[in-house]
Amino acid sequence: MLCQGGGGGSWLRFFLTALLWPQPLPWVAAASGAPSELRVRVRLPDGQVTEESLQADSGADCVTLELRKGDGTLITLTADFKQEVKIFRALILGELERGQSQFQALCFVTRLHRNEIIPSESMAKLRQKNPRTVRQAEEVRALEHLSMDVAVNFSKGAQLSSHIHNVCAEAKEAIYTREEDVKFWLEKGVDGSMFEVLPQSSDLPNLQRCRLCADRWRPCICSYALSIEWYPCMLKYCKSRDAAGKVSSYKCGIRSCQKGYSFDYYVPQKQLCLWDEET
Ligand SMILES: *[C@@H]1O[C@H](CO)[C@@H](O)[C@H](O)[C@H]1NC(C)=O
Repeated sequence: MLCQGGGGGSWLRFFLTALLWPQPLPWVAAASGAPSELRVRVRLPDGQVTEESLQADSGADCVTLELRKGDGTLITLTADFKQEVKIFRALILGELERGQSQFQALCFVTRLHRNEIIPSESMAKLRQKNPRTVRQAEEVRALEHLSMDVAVNFSKGAQLSSHIHNVCAEAKEAIYTREEDVKFWLEKGVDGSMFEVLPQSSDLPNLQRCRLCADRWRPCICSYALSIEWYPCMLKYCKSRDAAGKVSSYKCGIRSCQKGYSFDYYVPQKQLCLWDEET
């Protein structure tokens, strides 16, 4: 055994290749710097199993996670470490019998904090011993409520993160962020003209939550919740002792987390928010 890991020996199931082997293996060397992809089977809260894709590009310093929910919705999270930006995208299938177009796309852009997710370089080295294993996160992180009170102009969004152009292409009219994140980016020198503050309840006293609003044509505050079911949120360190008895620690695996997010944002008409209904 290489180390005595905590957490039920889960370090055994995931390991960081090049970090474990002193000599890089040929296929690891070939992959370094290039984008890598890991596919993980994950159990959803309803019991269904889905495949999650985790892509890392250490050159571009970004990570993308993607999973499809049981209802067909495709959830994507792109973490841009360089720009300290994370982008959530939801592609929601429409209900054709309700006259909705094929899908609706939403993009939520918010600040990426340090240590929310493991670095792209470690993610790119992640391998699993048994790809058939169905995984559940070791840690459930608290649901985060975000009030998305600012719209982002798609054509200018590349100045915030070059990934917005690709990830949010289907959501050109529905890219949202928060004033507090905007403040942080403005201090970093990002151009403020891409941001537009959306109407607030204080400007429109009749602005209600969409689920309480009966009129399809009225503006309201829509809610959309999503969950990243499984992601490597922390590196695990193991200790080793050399011949002289000196103890050192090295990266030997990951801790996995699950986290839910709930986004509130303004829509000019309730019909853009039909999933948010009282049930
Ligand atoms: C976004 O920015 C472009 C380029 O400046 C501008 O032409 C366009 O009108 C803006 N879109 C919105 C919705 O403000």
